[in-house]
Amino acid sequence: MYDSNSPDWWKYGVVYHIYPHSFKDSNDDGIGDIPGIIKKLDYLKELGVDAIWLSPVYSSPMVDMGYDICDYQNIDEHYGTMDDFKNLLAEAHQRGIRVIMDLVLNHTSDLHPWFLQSRSSRKNPKRDWYIWRPPRKGQKGKKPNNWITNFGKKAWRYDHKTKEYYYHSFFWQQADLNWRNPEVKEAMFDVMRFWLDMGVDGFRLDVINLIYKDKDLRNNKSRVFKKSEIHNRNQPEAYELLRDFRKLLDSYPGKTSVGEIYTPPPGDPFLAASFLGNGTDMLHMVFDFSLIFTLWRAPGYYKTLTGYYEKIPADGWPCFFLSNHDIGRSIRRLLWEWSKYERAKLHAVLLATLKGTPFIYYGEEIGMENVTIPKTHIRDLYGRLLYPFFRGRDRARTPMQWSDKPHAGFSKETPWLPVAGNYATVNVKKQQDDSNSILSIYKSLLALRKKEVALQKGDITFLGKGENNILAYSRVYGQEEIIVLLNFSRRKKKYKGAFGNAALLFSTHKSTKLSETGVVLQAMEGVILKRSLAG
Ligand code: GLC
Repeated sequence: MYDSNSPDWWKYGVVYHIYPHSFKDSNDDGIGDIPGIIKKLDYLKELGVDAIWLSPVYSSPMVDMGYDICDYQNIDEHYGTMDDFKNLLAEAHQRGIRVIMDLVLNHTSDLHPWFLQSRSSRKNPKRDWYIWRPPRKGQKGKKPNNWITNFGKKAWRYDHKTKEYYYHSFFWQQADLNWRNPEVKEAMFDVMRFWLDMGVDGFRLDVINLIYKDKDLRNNKSRVFKKSEIHNRNQPEAYELLRDFRKLLDSYPGKTSVGEIYTPPPGDPFLAASFLGNGTDMLHMVFDFSLIFTLWRAPGYYKTLTGYYEKIPADGWPCFFLSNHDIGRSIRRLLWEWSKYERAKLHAVLLATLKGTPFIYYGEEIGMENVTIPKTHIRDLYGRLLYPFFRGRDRARTPMQWSDKPHAGFSKETPWLPVAGNYATVNVKKQQDDSNSILSIYKSLLALRKKEVALQKGDITFLGKGENNILAYSRVYGQEEIIVLLNFSRRKKKYKGAFGNAALLFSTHKSTKLSETGVVLQAMEGVILKRSLAG
């Protein structure tokens, strides 16, 4: 059984990612909030969630929806008060649910008092807390180097008062901190202690590989894919910092961390896993994006998954996610409309049975989809800046679909983003009453994962390489073996193997028959079997 008191809870439990603006609005201002999350804790418990990760809830001008923080030790008024947060912690803990905070170490809001001081004069003691440079010598108006932001714009902003540029990896309202200054580290480690002392259970570290930049700020070469020629990320000092971070976390029992290491397609599991160090001295887990970029074919999934597992150090721990607030919802990638819910169910089986911690993005458990937001309603600044080429990231941030009531039961007032058009049919209430719904499938799978130790702790071995478009693997713990068969195909297929002595634990289709010669899998069917290896 899963033990929420074990120091290893984060390996065997299930994490649910909440986008606070869109989860549940308790005061009917159209914006989700912390008391709303508290109201839904019982729902999460029933679903089988063991921890929640909250996208940032700190005070913020919301230029980047909370990823631009102006007070790291306060709760934004949209979400409630510090007392509400403490209440959330207590209520979650009472139910055995842990709380993971998002922590943005790379940059602050330009309205953070540190930056206001830093920009006030070149002589201000906080000047060096950020990355300031004069225009290139002899070249008036020239930016210090050729670095660009993560969305392809120039990454230096000129400050007319002090006549220097500051560096920003994202919007210009998000100034990058200078981690080469030890005072910055001290201040941020104090922030971490503040939350750890309060009882939070860990951190998700935002864009952690960006934290250090080349100290000479050398130009990036145009061949952007050659790692050695990129100087505004992945610096050796980041690894040193994470060692100290881990020491701090380890001084509090039972805490965890997960780092975001975004890399463009096809992803870079080697880079992601490098931030695990030897598996026990840096991050506890890292998000690797290669699965997100893998096409819907069993051999492709096999290749991606084995590629990622190979890179995880012996003492390290994998984790998996299919959707998030930036990259969009997984159902978007499930190409054919007609089978999208079948595929979502198959994805659920995958997430719940792989070796590694599953992260579920809110709404994924009911098959919420990306929503096309009309131009007038786009809230993500990227969408407004890059429209019509990119409509931004709002598509996967729409209100949680709780019921078929107005505004999907998210709020009584008009929500900050439009609700998806399909809310009358795709919602929690409806799926709760349907034993065949995606929600019911998730519930059964998470319950199974809690019950079966082999699904939590067992080693994973792939059975074949995705031949016949079936992804097959086995999880072994002690004398118990769990076998997972996932038919990625739109056709009925037979998986050959002697399963006469196995028990059927789960199937997405419920009609499965095992025999001495194999299992017949319906189109898009996922099956979980169990057998004893004893005797
Ligand atoms: C991360 C967040 C994203 C944010 C960016 C800057 O990638 O997930 O939402 O815009 O960092 O903080």
